Amino acid sequence: MIFKQLFDTNSSTYTYLIASAKGREAIIIDPVLENVDEYIIHLKELDLKLVKVIDTHIHADHITGASKLKINTNCTTIMGENSPAETVDIKLKNDEIIKIDQLKIRAMFTPGHTSDSYSFLMDNYLFSGDTLLINGTGRTDFQNGSSKDAYHSLFHKLLKLPEETILYPGHDYNGKKSSTIGKEKEHNPRLQVENVDQYIEIMSNLNLSKPKMIDHNISRNLKLGNI
Ligand SMILES: [Fe+2]
Repeated sequence: MIFKQLFDTNSSTYTYLIASAKGREAIIIDPVLENVDEYIIHLKELDLKLVKVIDTHIHADHITGASKLKINTNCTTIMGENSPAETVDIKLKNDEIIKIDQLKIRAMFTPGHTSDSYSFLMDNYLFSGDTLLINGTGRTDFQNGSSKDAYHSLFHKLLKLPEETILYPGHDYNGKKSSTIGKEKEHNPRLQVENVDQYIEIMSNLNLSKPKMIDHNISRNLKLGNI
C-alpha cells in the first residue's frame, strides 16, 4: 500500500492519498482546492491513477478540491448518503465498502460534527474526518451539528473499534499527525465523560468563533468546490 498524509497550512486540514501498490489505483480523502496541483504532481511522481475522491463531510473551513480533481483526472466523487451536495457521483450508505484494487474502505456514518459526517475505515486505519480529533472532537454548533449525535458516533461507534486502530483525523492544530483509539480513550479530555449529558455540557460551553468564510465555503462545497 502507498500512503501519504498531506497538510494544508491555511486550514490545518489533513488530506490522505492512499493507493494500491499493485494496481496503481489511488483514492484521496478530503482534498483542499488550493492543493490540487500538488496532489496531481504526487500522483504523477508515484505513477498512480486517481480513481476516487472522498469528502468526509461538507467542510466549513476550506473549499474541497473534489471537483477540480474530477475535471483533471476523471475520478469518481464520493460522499455519504446524508450529504446535501447534489453533484456527488456516489453516495455511500453506512457500512458500504469502496474497493481500490485489493484495498477495502468501509464507510461509517458518524453524524454530530455535521449531520452528514462519515468516517472511513481501511484495515486498522481510521480516517475520522472531524468526528474524532487528536485530544479533541469536532465542534457541533453549525451545519445541523448535534452533540448528542456526536456522543453516539464517538462512544457507540468509533471508540468500539480495537484500541490499536490508528486515528488519522481531518485536522490537527498542534502538529500531531496520528494517534490510536486506545490513546484517545485514555487521554482525550472530551472523552472523559460519564454520559451524554456531560458531553453536551462540554460542547455547549466551547464558545468558539465562527470559521472565516463559512458561508462562502459551504456554498462552494455543496457543489464540490465548483463556482
Ligand atoms: Fe468540519
